[in-house]
Amino acid sequence: MPPPPAFTRYASQKINPVSIGQLLKYRRQPLSKENILDSISYTQAELPVRLAKRVISFHRLPFIVGTNPHIARVYNQYYEAFDRLHAFAPINDLEPEWDFTRALERQTQILADVIPTIAQGFLECQLYMPREERTAFINDLIRSRIGLRVIGEQHVALSYQFREEQRKAKLAQDSDQSVRTNTSPHSREDVWVGAIHTRLLPARMMEQCGQMVQSMCEMHYGTAPSYYVDGDVDETISYIPSHFEYITCELLKNALRATVDFSSSTNRSSHPPIQITITKGDGYVGVRIRDQGGGISKENMRNIFEYSWSSMQTDSSDEHSSAAGTSPTGSSMMAGMSMQTNLALQQGVGGPIAGLGFGLPMARLYAGYFGGSLDIVSMEGYGCDVFLKLRSIEGSVEDRQI
Ligand SMILES: Nc1ncnc2c1ncn2[C@@H]1O[C@H](COP(=O)(O)OP(=O)(O)OP(=O)(O)O)[C@@H](O)[C@H]1O
Ligand SMILES: [Mg+2]
Repeated sequence: MPPPPAFTRYASQKINPVSIGQLLKYRRQPLSKENILDSISYTQAELPVRLAKRVISFHRLPFIVGTNPHIARVYNQYYEAFDRLHAFAPINDLEPEWDFTRALERQTQILADVIPTIAQGFLECQLYMPREERTAFINDLIRSRIGLRVIGEQHVALSYQFREEQRKAKLAQDSDQSVRTNTSPHSREDVWVGAIHTRLLPARMMEQCGQMVQSMCEMHYGTAPSYYVDGDVDETISYIPSHFEYITCELLKNALRATVDFSSSTNRSSHPPIQITITKGDGYVGVRIRDQGGGISKENMRNIFEYSWSSMQTDSSDEHSSAAGTSPTGSSMMAGMSMQTNLALQQGVGGPIAGLGFGLPMARLYAGYFGGSLDIVSMEGYGCDVFLKLRSIEGSVEDRQI
């Protein structure tokens, strides 16, 4: 069935990439009403085009794939998201801007489970589409979803920031006292530009993520390796904290899990600690995560960045499991739970530590989004070195568009 004309019309428009400079252009504070209307004007024009392009991309899938209930569900979510935002008349005042902002927030919640749903759908459709095409579709979907979220969340954050500043200014006016006199040198106003933290401390983030992943590991295995952070621990980066957290938690989960498994299979009396080293580069921060979790075999190295590929096995009755202990994740999920539940749980303490085969490919997409990279070097029989390079968003003002 062809897509409705409104979608074709919007989807035929060119994406207007947001530049990093644009994301940071409201650095000077306080924010003004003009700033907010300027931001909403870009957001309102851009998001429907991007959503429409996604909807059209579903129409290009083989018919049988499009009828899969999980894939059809995601299609409908994008369709409805487009409809919701498209329904707004051009915005030139703060009241409708606030309504649109709230709609954006709701939309983020609704689209939250797109990835696990689509993963489940493609798992069921493996026979109907070549692997490269599936991977390309998932990559495009995830990349475009990151873009939609960055643009949407940036506006939502700016809108809240604006209202917060207004509220404080009013309070200060009421008490006849300047707001700025009470703020610390690194107050929210100084370090945040919308959703971007301009002085994020990677060492501190790694400490926090390490604690969270340790708790997950404890819950899953009853034991967890220790870790330490060294190198340029005072280095800061301009980045979106939730992206940083997502990438590094995935990498740490892998490192801790491998360490515990290897200790168990080699009867090691204690777990060697995970070493997390921060390095300062020119416009980027490097993070090396070094574990002694036995490494990855040459054969498995070919698969680790494939969607749905995992060496985790939780269902031993699975007929597809290979002797090497590797399997497609359809068979390796926590028994009795759907992939959606697993991926949702995966983000919180107490969720499964591995098993979906989405951690590495998604972490690499997130890292690459702002021009960074993710590489793994394995010493089979010993451990892995994971190299993460994240470009400071601020450092790349001139050259990147998203
Ligand atoms: N540090 C590591 N040491 C040993 N093996 C690793 C390491 N990191 C990744 N792997 C291997 O790569 C596979 C894929 O990793 P990935 O994070 O994508 O999926 P997962 O951990 O199995 O599941 P999840 O999506 O829940 O993270 C893992 O199953 C594991 O076999
Ligand atoms: Mg993982």
